[in-house]
Formats: sequence, C-alpha cells, structure tokens
Amino acid sequence: MENLDLSKLPKHIAIIMDGNGRWAQEQGQDRLFGHYQGVLSVRKVVEAATEIGIQYLTLYAFSTENWERPEQEVTGLMTLFVDTIAKEVPDLHKNNIKLRFIGNLAMLPPHAREALDNATAQTSKNTGLTLIIALSYSSRWELVEAAKNMATKVKQGSMQLDEINETTLSASLTTSDFPDPELMIRTSGEFRISNFLLYQLAYAELYFTDTRWPDFRKDDLIKAILDFQSRERRFGKTSHQISLNGEKK
Ligand code: IPE
Ligand code: IPE
Ligand code: MG
Repeated sequence: MENLDLSKLPKHIAIIMDGNGRWAQEQGQDRLFGHYQGVLSVRKVVEAATEIGIQYLTLYAFSTENWERPEQEVTGLMTLFVDTIAKEVPDLHKNNIKLRFIGNLAMLPPHAREALDNATAQTSKNTGLTLIIALSYSSRWELVEAAKNMATKVKQGSMQLDEINETTLSASLTTSDFPDPELMIRTSGEFRISNFLLYQLAYAELYFTDTRWPDFRKDDLIKAILDFQSRERRFGKTSHQISLNGEKK
C-alpha cells in the first residue's frame, strides 16, 4: 500500500466480479457456495477502497443476461442480495458509505426492490465512498432507455434536437451522478466487458486478473491500482504532449 501514489488514485473503480461459480465447482461445491464466498470479497474490497481513499466503486453483481441462469441459482442470488443488504447496511452506514443501485430494477421481485430503496434512502446523506451496485444491469438496455427518454423530451418540446450531446446523453444514463470509471477490473481470466458500462468505460484502463472473485482481496486491489498508476493515459494525444502537460505543441 505504501507504494501507491495517493495523488494519482483513480476516483472511480469498476469491477466485474467474475468466477464465483468456477471457484465453488473447483472445490466440489454448489455454485451458490461461490456466490456466498464472494460476499466476503465484496466486504474486504469495500473496506480497502475506503481505506485507500477511492471515491466511487461500482460492482457488477448481476446482469440482465444472468436472469437466464437456472432458476435455482437466480432465486438463490436474489435471497443472497436481499439478506446481504439487510445485514451489511448498518456497517456501511457507520462507515459513511453511500449506497446506490443501477440497472433495470423493475425486473427485481418487489421485496428486493424495497430492500434496495431502503438501503439507498438510509445512506443517502453519507459523504464517504459511493458504492454503486449494478444489479439486473445491461449497458445496452441503459443506452436504449436514454435514447427513449431524450426522444420523448424532444417530441414534447422540452428539449431541442441539438441539445442532444455527450453531456446530455451522460446525464440520461443511470450513472449520471458519478464520474466515468478510470479503472475497470475483471477477475477470473475472462477478457470481455459483458454488457457493462459500455459508454462510461470509453477511456478506462482495463485490468484483468486470473484470480477468482472469492479469492480477491485488498492486495489484489492494490496491485490493480499500481498497474493503473504505471500506465500513461494519453486520451488520443502523443506521449510528448502528455509530458508537456497536454499542451498542443
Ligand atoms: C460472477 O460469477 C457472479 C455473477 C455473474 C452473478 P459467475 O457466477 O459468473 O462465476 P463463473 O464465471 O461461472 O465462474
Ligand atoms: C458478468 O459475468 C456479470 C457479472 C459479473 C455480474 P458473467 O459471468 O455473467 O459474464 P459472461 O457470461 O462470462 O460474459
Ligand atoms: Mg461468470
């Protein structure tokens, strides 16, 4: 941790928490066992992010595509989400963490939605880490919703066509209150985005590790941030321009 450059921390880290099922199956256990173990990793990573001073942490917990998994796994995951939120919110609140949920939450069972709404309301005034859980989330769904919302406004006359730009599109996404992630981590050796924050990750640094999510700990997070800090983020410019502080020379 002492090797981290605290002046160059990513403000927002997004994580695709992958590999719970394989982790469990490798030990001869049911896939759900892996999801339960994964909650411990969430707790550890949230603690570490708070300690390091990360401002926004987005965790991909369940995609809209995940609804197509066997019913037993989906039901088990819903129970796990609701129970975990109920159990963890008091501690999160004590640690000044603000909870937010993004995704097609209308697809969730009503009791789950109620648990999310309560957790969001209870922690809404907190000023520490913003912990964003992507649940029943799909980036393509989110972009379609944004398009529909803006089209409706134009049709109703409350928005002009030329007011559709990157700023208003960003503001129409579920992530409108958060800056774009600078670092995206995916665990368990898969090199894909799986419908996660497609627009918001435009210039994120991507970090992939073979570590399965249930084994992911503070050290792994620090390793990812150190890797991030070793990279030159050029945003389309030349290395020379970056060393001159972005001047157009
Ligand atoms: C990630 O782990 C958690 C969810 C998608 C809910 P997986 O369940 O995808 O685990 P693997 O990829 O099958 O090992
Ligand atoms: C992505 O993982 C979704 C979450 C981590 C919640 P998946 O395991 O569902 O993604 P694919 O199927 O390997 O792309
Ligand atoms: Mg997976």
